[in-house]
Amino acid sequence: MTNSRIAMPALYSRVMSAEDAAALIDDGTTVGMSGFTGAGYPKAVPVALAERINAEHDAGNPFQVRVWTGASTGPELDGALARANGIEFRLPYNSDPVAREKINRGEMAYFDMHLSQVAPMAWQGFLGPLDTAVIEVTGITASGDLIPSSSVGNNKTWLERAKRVILEVNSWQNPALEGMHDIYYGTHLPPHRVPIPLVRADDRIGQPLFQCDPEKIAAIVLTDIPDRNLPFTAPDAAAGAIAGHLLAFFEHEVAMGRMPPALLPLQSGVGNIANAVLTGLIDSRFEGMTSFTEVIQDGMLDLLDSGKLLMASATSFSLSPDAAARVNADMGRYRERMILRPQEISNHPELIRRLGCIAMNGLIEADIYGNVNSTHVMGSRIQNGIGGSGDFARNAFVSIFMTPSTAKGGAISAIVPQVSHVDHITQDVQIIVTEQGLADLRGLAPKQRAALIIEKCAHPDFRPMLEDYYARALVSSYGKHAPSLLTEALSWHQRYIDTGSMRF
Ligand code: COA
Repeated sequence: MTNSRIAMPALYSRVMSAEDAAALIDDGTTVGMSGFTGAGYPKAVPVALAERINAEHDAGNPFQVRVWTGASTGPELDGALARANGIEFRLPYNSDPVAREKINRGEMAYFDMHLSQVAPMAWQGFLGPLDTAVIEVTGITASGDLIPSSSVGNNKTWLERAKRVILEVNSWQNPALEGMHDIYYGTHLPPHRVPIPLVRADDRIGQPLFQCDPEKIAAIVLTDIPDRNLPFTAPDAAAGAIAGHLLAFFEHEVAMGRMPPALLPLQSGVGNIANAVLTGLIDSRFEGMTSFTEVIQDGMLDLLDSGKLLMASATSFSLSPDAAARVNADMGRYRERMILRPQEISNHPELIRRLGCIAMNGLIEADIYGNVNSTHVMGSRIQNGIGGSGDFARNAFVSIFMTPSTAKGGAISAIVPQVSHVDHITQDVQIIVTEQGLADLRGLAPKQRAALIIEKCAHPDFRPMLEDYYARALVSSYGKHAPSLLTEALSWHQRYIDTGSMRF
C-alpha cells in the first residue's frame, strides 16, 4: 500500500482497522489519548474500544480503562467510553455531559488538575505507568517523526511515556499544519530544571514535529473525521455588557500607564463570554496585540483576521465548524501567525509570569471576599474542572474572572456570602466582572473587597440580601478581619437545593 500521509514505508504494515487497534488495549490499563477541547482527539479507536467494552460487558466480563488526555475531548472519546461504562479513572479535565453524570453519580473517579502539571506529574511517576498512547496526527514523515494535528496537549509526554503507541492519521487535518507547532523538548524534573527560553509570546523554542520511536508504533489507523466543537451563540446582553466593562478597564489601565497600548499577552478561557470579549476587542483602539493562551477560539480568529491581534500562541484550536473550515481553507497563511505548543508550555507558570498575561476566565460563583469557585455546583457537583484557570490566575499580570451575576434563570446569585468550593483563593482574584459592573480588588483588604463586590457585581435582586448578610456579619462575626456568619454563609446553597431558588 501507499499513503500520502505516511512517508515511512516501513510503517505501512502497521496500518489496521480501528477494531484491531482497539483489541491491543487491555482491561485495567492506562491509555493516554490526544485531544484538547474538540480538537485533535482520536476519533475511531475510542469508538471501537467502546464497542469492545460493551461486548465484554455483555459477556459478563469486566472491562474498564484509565483515560488521560490533554483536556476535554469530543463525544467519540469521552462520550462513547463513558456511555459504555468503560472509564474507571479520568484526568485532567472533562466537559462531556455523559462522563460528568457518571462522575457526579460516583461511578467514575476523576482527578481534576492544573493542566500545566499533568506532564510533570506523569514524569514524576505519581500517576502510574502509561500503557498505551492513542494519538491523532496529521501525518508521518520519512524519518518517522509525527506531524501534530489541531491540538498538542500532552501528546509529547504520552508518546515518550507510553509503552505502546497507536496513531490515528487523520486526512481531514490539513497537511499545511506542518510547521505551525513548536514542540519543546527541554523540560526536566528538579533538580535539573533550567529556565525555559521563551521571552515573547511569538518565540519558537522547539521543533515542529513529535519524535517517536517507530518500534513503539503498534498500530496506525487511517481516519478522515472532522474535529467537533460546538458553534458559539451570538453574545447576549450580559456577555456584551461584561465585554464593555472589560474594555473600559483596559482603556483605564493603558491611560494609567500600567499596560502598553498593545496590552499584554491575552489569555482567554473558552465560552461565549470570553468570545464576546475577544470580539469586542476588534472594535477597540488596541493594536498590535498578542495572545499567550490555551485555546484559539472563534473570537481569537476574528481578532487575528482584523489585524489587531498579531499572533496567537496556544496548545489547541477550539473552533466552531465554520471557523475550522475557514482556518483549513487558508492554513498556509494562518500557520505564520499561530503557534501550538505542549500544554506544559502554553500554561507554564514561569512563562505566564514572565510575559505578564492578562488572564480572563469564567466562574461559577464568587464570594464577597473574592474567592472563586470555577468547578463545583452547590459545592459537590463537578461542572467541568479547573483546567488552565489556576495556571493563569495565580501567575498573570492581572487575573480577571467574569460571569453573569445570576444563573438558572435568576434563581441563583453568582455572588454569594461564601463560595461552596474554592478553586481560586482571594489572593489570585484581582478583578471580578459581571454585567452589573467591574470590581477592581487589587490592593484591597477583605472588608473593602466585600463592599465593592456587593456594590459593583451583585444582581440588584440579590444585593439587598448580601448587604443584609454582610451588615449582620460585621456586627456579630467571631473576627472582624473577614466577617462571616458560619451557620448562614452556605445557607443560600442549601436553600437552592431545598427549594430551587436562593431567594427567600
Ligand atoms: N450555580 C449553579 N450553576 C451554575 C452557576 C452557579 N452559580 N453558574 C453557572 N452555572 C451553570 C449554568 O447554569 C450552566 O449549566 P447548564 O449547562 O445546565 O445550563 C453551566 O453552569 C455553565 O454555565 P454557563 O453560563 O454556560 O457558563 P460558561 O460556559 O461560561 O462556563 C464555567 C462557566 C465556570 C463552567 C467555565 O468557564 C469553566 O468550566 N471554567 C473552569 C475552567 C476554565 O476556566 N478554563 C479556562 C482556562 S484556560
